Amino acid sequence: MQLHISPSLRHVTVLPGKGVREFIKVKVGGRRLSYRILFYSLLFFTFLLRFVFVLSTVNTLDGDSKCSTIGCLGKRLGPRLLGRRLDSAVPDVIYQVLDEPIGKDELKGRDDIPQTLEDFMTEVKDKQLDAQTFAIKLRQMVSLLEQRTRTAKIQEYLYRHVASSSIPKQLHCLALRLANEHSNNAAARLQLPSPELVPALVDNSYFHFVLASDNILAAAVVAASLAQNALRPDRFVLHIITDKKTYSPMQAWFSLHPLSPAIIEVKALHHFDWFTKGKVPSSVTVQGGSSAIIANNTEKPVVIAAKLQALSPKYNSMMNHIRIHLPELFPSLSKVVFLDDDIVVQTDLSPLWDIDLNGKVNGAVETCRGKDRFVMSKRFKSYLNFSHPLIARNFDPSECAWAYGMNIFDLEAWRKTNISLTYHYWLEQNLKSDLSLWQLGTLPPGLIAFHGHVHRIDPFWHMLGLGYQENTSIAAVESAGVIHFNGRAKPWLDIAFPQLRPLWAKYINFSDKFIKGCNIRAF
Ligand SMILES: *[C@@H]1O[C@H](CO)[C@@H](O)[C@H](O)[C@H]1NC(C)=O
Ligand SMILES: *[C@@H]1O[C@H](CO)[C@@H](O)[C@H](O)[C@H]1NC(C)=O
Ligand SMILES: *[C@@H]1O[C@H](CO)[C@@H](O)[C@H](O)[C@H]1NC(C)=O
Ligand SMILES: *[C@@H]1O[C@H](CO)[C@@H](O)[C@H](O)[C@H]1NC(C)=O
Ligand SMILES: *[C@@H]1O[C@H](CO)[C@@H](O)[C@H](O)[C@H]1NC(C)=O
Repeated sequence: MQLHISPSLRHVTVLPGKGVREFIKVKVGGRRLSYRILFYSLLFFTFLLRFVFVLSTVNTLDGDSKCSTIGCLGKRLGPRLLGRRLDSAVPDVIYQVLDEPIGKDELKGRDDIPQTLEDFMTEVKDKQLDAQTFAIKLRQMVSLLEQRTRTAKIQEYLYRHVASSSIPKQLHCLALRLANEHSNNAAARLQLPSPELVPALVDNSYFHFVLASDNILAAAVVAASLAQNALRPDRFVLHIITDKKTYSPMQAWFSLHPLSPAIIEVKALHHFDWFTKGKVPSSVTVQGGSSAIIANNTEKPVVIAAKLQALSPKYNSMMNHIRIHLPELFPSLSKVVFLDDDIVVQTDLSPLWDIDLNGKVNGAVETCRGKDRFVMSKRFKSYLNFSHPLIARNFDPSECAWAYGMNIFDLEAWRKTNISLTYHYWLEQNLKSDLSLWQLGTLPPGLIAFHGHVHRIDPFWHMLGLGYQENTSIAAVESAGVIHFNGRAKPWLDIAFPQLRPLWAKYINFSDKFIKGCNIRAF
């Protein structure tokens, strides 16, 4: 027989064996009763008391005691749930013990706590426990199971996160092969761009795009889709920023797959003056106390898992915060378009330079209105914790949110503001308050930092949700300028939506030797 307890103590499943499954959902009866007591009452009256030996043990030890309020509650619950009468009362002492919260270290390093209901009952039978010991053992067993379930639940949420952010082995293979090519083949080590094109990198008469990514395949798709749809690709400059470990394979890819006449620059973060001069704010590299987060027993597993994710290197890495430093990274540029690596460009993007931002810094698509109610319903309250006074005091919960992924940044206007400072100030506030202002991602601090500096652009320029809205219609997608696979179902993962994946995959040459050699297939 097995006992499964949900983390909140709200669901109990008992598997008496041989495929029989009983499930109970605990509901709050009255406000004065704790879940814990209800839970134990149910445990007694629905499961334990059916076993005569438990019944008799409890009864013989303490005799007939008067029906206490709690005991009677159980009694009243029992028959209703079981459809039959129960004649036994549970001694008060048992509920007293059970109602005490478990001591902080009571379960640490103990190996004498029964692991299953069966062990527990064997022990009760063999040792003829008195009622108090019985209750203590029961409480310990249930707490132990509860802790394990919580741990398992947190892991489950984290695994789900890993499934969407980890690197599939084909992409890993691609990086390794390209790194190998980089060291063995001079043609894979070309300076990007070639020396005669270097002046274009700081020339404001070109259209400048910035892409920050450590995913070579994703970057390849963004670059190819950008260049292939450009009317004047020779005026396009794509600045690819990557990390140290991805630099050589990224350089190898674009050396061997040039998109000329478009101009591609590949640079690792540590190549930027700004980075090496040690001006990186500490809040980007600070790690929070994750053990404190795990130790907190009162929070829901999903919240804990989100906080752990927020502290994971993926979300803390400089790559994620890079866009907030565009003015410093590109000191001679006056305007750039920043692209995420999970987008596909489907049209010529040069008209973005004709949009008048009205002195604002960030041209972005708003996400609070639109045909798709599911995707386009994001306001500040969707991202920020308005129960927190710091947020409630400073922001309006109904303010429309906007999206990262395809943004026009006027770097000249930006340099006249304190946006980057504000961003880091709030990052620090969030760390100080144990990540209670917001939990995940770079958008929430972005919403705060760019508050008042955003110019709304036409939704045509940025269609969102392809990584979580599987109902996305192909007609709508085909009429969008840029599509964004934001959400879990990234197009390079197995969990991508099959009908949407071809929109991304069509920019990959599946006969290419690196793509083929790593078993990357069209599906
Ligand atoms: C656990 O989290 C809750 C809710 O955020 C908070 O009120 C409580 O102080 C935390 N406990 C510890 C020990 O950190
Ligand atoms: C930026 O911050 C500094 C110092 O806090 C302040 O003096 C200045 O007025 C701010 N500038 C703008 C444009 O808000
Ligand atoms: C939101 O803020 C409140 C007040 O500080 C806090 O108790 C709560 O835990 C926060 N919510 C989340 C999900 O962090
Ligand atoms: C997707 O479409 C199905 C069937 O029309 C509908 O039941 C479901 O709610 C939709 N999902 C979303 C997220 O809009
Ligand atoms: C795809 O790759 C193959 C092998 O490298 C090459 O021969 C072919 O020209 C490529 N196709 C396109 C459309 O670039």
